[in-house]
Amino acid sequence: MKFFLDTADLAEIEEAASWGAIAGVTTNPTLYAKIGGKLDEFHAHIKRICDIVDGPVSAESVAMTRDEIVRDGLELAEIAPNVVVKVPTMVEGLAATKELAKHGVPVNMTLCFSVPQALLAARAGARYISPFIGRFDDISDDGLAQVENIVDAINNYDFTAHTVKGEQIEIIAASVRSANHVTQCALMGADIATVPFGVLKKMVQHPLTDAGLESFMKDWEKVQ
Ligand code: E4P
Repeated sequence: MKFFLDTADLAEIEEAASWGAIAGVTTNPTLYAKIGGKLDEFHAHIKRICDIVDGPVSAESVAMTRDEIVRDGLELAEIAPNVVVKVPTMVEGLAATKELAKHGVPVNMTLCFSVPQALLAARAGARYISPFIGRFDDISDDGLAQVENIVDAINNYDFTAHTVKGEQIEIIAASVRSANHVTQCALMGADIATVPFGVLKKMVQHPLTDAGLESFMKDWEKVQ
């Protein structure tokens, strides 16, 4: 399983990249707003992320019609070779994804909540599909079960005829809220988990590691 960092915060990205932990980054309009991002600095900000991370960086189109999404997507793809255009799973998004794939632009279909949505995204030519977990949990539904169904359904078929350069679709488990979400997604075979920095830090931690380290340090003092 690969890990992407789900943030637009450059300091978090630099820190996680220094751990050798992340293979990519996903951003969204909320995450960009959260760091106080400005509209006219968006492309420059994505470029900075692309310079830090040696892997796919998802930048989301906020357009609502296919033509606008395609125009947005082509502009975003110009920023750097590792830009992936994030497109919402909706009719206009599917049509735009098909067009962008024709232009050789990789698309991450986001806000995906069901197997039919994922299958349609795959047929449209998405390179990545992002089923959300936490937002299901927020409405007392089982986000992990939905992701598992999507992983199984996508892996039942070969979509390489539809993707840019015939690459395999990768499922990005998104809206990840805990280290346990990551464990469950790895067990069900999701290709990638995109995690907030807080979750990435929790993934490193274990109380037995802390206790073991403390006792090793104490015993080492005796050796001195
Ligand atoms: C995925 O690409 C999204 O940016 C993200 O995972 C959304 O997470 P949230 O539901 O915690 O906002």
